[in-house]
Amino acid sequence: MTLDLSQDRNGGSPAPATEVPAIRLPQRLREGVSFRRDQLEFLRWAARTQGDIFRFRVYGIPMIMLNHPDHIYRVLVGARAKYDKDALLYRLVRPVLRDGLIGSPGGEHWQRQRRLVQPTMRPAVVAKFARNMTEETTGMLERWDRRLRPGEVVDVHGEFGELALRIVNRSLFSAQVGSAAREFAAAFTEANALLGRFFTFPFPPLSVPTPSHLKLRRAIARMDGFVSSFVREHAAEPGGPVESAEDVDLLTLLMSAVDEKDGTSMAAEQLHHEVLNLVIGAYETTTNALAWIFYLLAAHPEVERRLHEEVDGALGGRTAGFEDMAATPYARSIVDETLRLYSPAWQFMRRAREEDVIGGHRIPARSNIYLNSYLLHRHPDLWDDPESFDPDRFAPERSKGRHRHAYMPFGGGERICVGQHFALTELHLVLLTVARRYRFRLPAGRPPVRPLPLITLHPEGGVHLEVRPR
Ligand code: HEM
Repeated sequence: MTLDLSQDRNGGSPAPATEVPAIRLPQRLREGVSFRRDQLEFLRWAARTQGDIFRFRVYGIPMIMLNHPDHIYRVLVGARAKYDKDALLYRLVRPVLRDGLIGSPGGEHWQRQRRLVQPTMRPAVVAKFARNMTEETTGMLERWDRRLRPGEVVDVHGEFGELALRIVNRSLFSAQVGSAAREFAAAFTEANALLGRFFTFPFPPLSVPTPSHLKLRRAIARMDGFVSSFVREHAAEPGGPVESAEDVDLLTLLMSAVDEKDGTSMAAEQLHHEVLNLVIGAYETTTNALAWIFYLLAAHPEVERRLHEEVDGALGGRTAGFEDMAATPYARSIVDETLRLYSPAWQFMRRAREEDVIGGHRIPARSNIYLNSYLLHRHPDLWDDPESFDPDRFAPERSKGRHRHAYMPFGGGERICVGQHFALTELHLVLLTVARRYRFRLPAGRPPVRPLPLITLHPEGGVHLEVRPR
């Protein structure tokens, strides 16, 4: 693959731009692939047969797929002013996320919110939440010690869902997980499934009271109720300006955040939306990532063995802490490699605000640009043996020279995941804490777990593993 950044240097392709090639219907029919029937199979077929840039339609809505890191760089970084997030995918999830960061189209409103939220997520603050992560994980293992027979088969997706919820609840609200949080998780799972089905069965606008929409509206109301109760509780507590993040939860930090430009803080409704976006951003993505990590470890005993050696050497039997992350690079490679193969935020979109040229092709204004890390992370020109689970590909010597936008589990450019440090810290510390005490195997006779492409990439039917104390 040749990497061509000339458009960014010259401000446009020298040759006249041509139309983005469209997937031809006869070829698609002949080869029997259908977006509606199997989204992942369709996308893999298209990436294999159509090249790195092509057009297709989802229920009549035109999409331009970009699967080349130069092109992705242009949209997310080089020519970012020409693109925003007012694209189909975010319009679809806006009834849930409203004005919060994740689906905000962009512009001044987004910039202000990002200025307010980002400082609460910087590495120095996240380090203070590390204890929540390891203590909650230890609590889960103690429950396993009491409850599980050695070798018992457990759906670890469910276990890690509960853990992720406990960690986010404690870090955001200083709260323990109770029935309200479980209710939130159930409502979110329902909304994710309803919205994720859009691509296989499109539905009319939310204002139309179909049974699905009524369900979705009820799920949104349940999630809103959960967030409101914490915001109300925190607002009722006496509090002054926060001098340090020590022993303070994220909601308190957000409530006291002041915009350096205009000296104001977040209005109550906006705060509600941002908190909801953070819980949603943090909960299901990390749940899925943890489930995939332990699924891949169970399927690759040699990787698990090396991990155990590293963990035992670094921790010497004590509980992991934030400072142990630097001394456990192999564990970090396992996290990175899992996010390559099963990136939970597996698809995202942009809208062209004006006409552009990418790779010599004309991008008409208002086009939906489709980016997909599931495909990019399996691109055979970017990755050797892309389907294999090989954490060593993230070792420094093998990462040298890799295109920055060949790997983007957290997106890229100014809209990169604001919770990236939080997520990586959580995944790494949970991995160390669990691997010190437990090992996993695939139960005999179960079929491989398939990824289910919803709004996030979900392990279909959960992840059932044999769990044994070490
Ligand atoms: C493995 C875990 C996670 C993955 C794979 C992930 C992935 C992503 C991706 C790909 C985006 C960018 C989407 C786009 O450009 O359209 C994003 C944005 C975002 N994520 Fe995450 N995320 C994770 C965890 C978290 C956590 C833990 C939080 C909160 C604590 C969070 C909060 C957000 C927010 C608020 C945004 C929107 C940022 C903006 O547009 O300014 N995410 N995430």
